Amino acid sequence: MFIHQRITKILHGPDLNTIISVYGWVKTKRESKNISFLEITDGSCLQGLQIIAEHSLKNYEQDVQKLTTGVSLRVTGLLQKSPAKGQDVELIAQEVEVLGWADPSEYPLQKKKQSFDFLRSIPHLRGRTNSFGCMMRIRNRLSTLIHLFFQERGFIQLHTPIITTSDCEGAGEMFTITSLDLDNLPRHEDNRVNYSEDFFGRQAGLTVSGQLEAETYAQALGQVYTFGPTFRAENSNTSRHLAEFWMMEPEMSFCDLQGDMDIAEEMLQFLLTDIMETCSDDLALFARFIDKNLLTKLQSIIRAPFTRLTYTEAIAILQKSGRDFEFPVSWGIDLQAEHEKYLTDEIYRGPVILRDYPKGIKPFYMRVNDDGQTVAAMDILFPGLGEIIGGSQREERLDPLLDRMAECKVNPDDYQWYLDLRRFGTVPHAGFGLGFERLVLFTTGLGNIRDVIPFPRTPGSAL
Ligand code: 4AD
Ligand code: MG
Repeated sequence: MFIHQRITKILHGPDLNTIISVYGWVKTKRESKNISFLEITDGSCLQGLQIIAEHSLKNYEQDVQKLTTGVSLRVTGLLQKSPAKGQDVELIAQEVEVLGWADPSEYPLQKKKQSFDFLRSIPHLRGRTNSFGCMMRIRNRLSTLIHLFFQERGFIQLHTPIITTSDCEGAGEMFTITSLDLDNLPRHEDNRVNYSEDFFGRQAGLTVSGQLEAETYAQALGQVYTFGPTFRAENSNTSRHLAEFWMMEPEMSFCDLQGDMDIAEEMLQFLLTDIMETCSDDLALFARFIDKNLLTKLQSIIRAPFTRLTYTEAIAILQKSGRDFEFPVSWGIDLQAEHEKYLTDEIYRGPVILRDYPKGIKPFYMRVNDDGQTVAAMDILFPGLGEIIGGSQREERLDPLLDRMAECKVNPDDYQWYLDLRRFGTVPHAGFGLGFERLVLFTTGLGNIRDVIPFPRTPGSAL
């Protein structure tokens, strides 16, 4: 039996002068007299393997000469040190078996460079391009690292539900799910839909955040995290928003805002330090073709502690800037991308953590500060990107929480379970949410969040 090896293994620790089999897809083919040079890739790394296919192969004319980009193959041959420049090893084919043809008149991924716009129209094939291969390997590593980081620190992973009846962020952006007959909806007298006849006996939707459920288990197990898909029906057609995105949310008992910021910063530095080492080839592609400053930008996150300032301080800086912002700055506004960008890209030229936001622009669950006006919230802003993390210390005191629910028009009857946590052994606790695609976007330097998730869902599009 021949050994079937992945190309990354072959390139990084080759068993020279042995016979091996490789499976993959043709990337390129060059023909000279009586010989074909193929590059095949198998997704295990950016580089392909050079195959030398000579005309003495029994199916040379029948198959090898007809090979085009995208055809899948099994090649068996002798692995040798390559005499030519450009690659260390090459496989001298003894057998080339075509597994599946890809008609060049129809196969959309020919050698020429394709625009990201075009690739978005073929999400089922774009994974075969260099950029998407690199992005996916980086995405995969970041996902693994998140688990490593929290597991090493004793956090327990919690699978929070995707179907929920609570709108954590209170922004009214929940997708409703229903099994009611949409052409014949049961209605109350005032014409509102009667969800008591629906599957769950009440209105339910797709989660916007696992936080509230994570809080319950943080108060049982101490430190937990959830990492799963979240959904938002927000009509933001930007390069930073998806309707379905992955969020990683740790929740920690016996932790305040300071501790929350510390662990978030430590985590981001840990992730980027590792990725620069373990995915250097994939990053190099993006540094070459997408963002020339990518590696410097990643270094800027790792190199030094993040700048930390309060919302109030940030407002003062923005007001003193003399800038003519599209959205005028005054205390109490929700900061816009242009304001965040000014702080990260122009003033501090690096990551910034803003904290203590006005309570009027934040959800009900954040802890009210002693000034009565602000809450113990924090956002981490990255240069060129904006918000990557949003978090807070949670309101653990029953009465202030009830007051905030009233202010935010959240019905306490719907949250008795959440209030129970404040009635039975309540503790100070905090957590945050990392937008996973925002992290991949920053790490790769790509320009659009639709290109860092295999199947993007955005307003008007769910291919
Ligand atoms: O700031 P957000 O809305 O915070 C929460 O949901 C909290 N419950 C998290 C917590 O404290 N456990 O969202 C957290 C992060 C944002 O900072 C952003 O990175 C990302 O999620 N995010 C999105 N990413 C892609 N598309 C969207 N539509 C996003 N909305 C938020
Ligand atoms: Mg936020």
